[in-house]
Amino acid sequence: MESKNKINFLVHKSQKSILIILIFIIFFVSMPEHVNANSGKILFKNHCAGCHLNGGNIIRRSKNLKISSLKRNGIDNPESIAKIVREGVGRMDSYIDKLGDNGDQVVANWVWEQAQKAWVQE
Ligand code: HEC
Repeated sequence: MESKNKINFLVHKSQKSILIILIFIIFFVSMPEHVNANSGKILFKNHCAGCHLNGGNIIRRSKNLKISSLKRNGIDNPESIAKIVREGVGRMDSYIDKLGDNGDQVVANWVWEQAQKAWVQE
């Protein structure tokens, strides 16, 4: 009787650890960082690339997203880009309504990262 209880206990314990491992897997898969790694790219593709394909600017060529242009226009961090996305600039509208929660930050971080890498996709 006692040994049966012990086996029951062991089975119970291993089921518990499987459950814990599952919870961990679900947690890591759904981590916001994982989503963000790609969602900046997707947001850009859906909402910015129409005018800023590969970091250019089809309407005002000098106001592109390459590092030299950004710096020339006083944009030297992701937050400045996020601000432009929220408020618009010159002939560019605000895109805040289209990007979802934190979308301005996510896409701005992605743009900034691409600018550092000279928009060369790996
Ligand atoms: C309909 C075309 C259009 C779309 C779509 C668009 N932009 Fe722009 N963007 C412009 C224009 C035009 C300017 C220049 C505005 C001005 O100064 O008159 C600009 C300027 C900028 C600048 C400043 C660049 C510089 O060197 O001064 C940033 C940063 C920027 N856009 C980011 C974005 C991001 C991020 C998105 C997507 C959320 C986006 N834009 C979507 C047209 C667009």
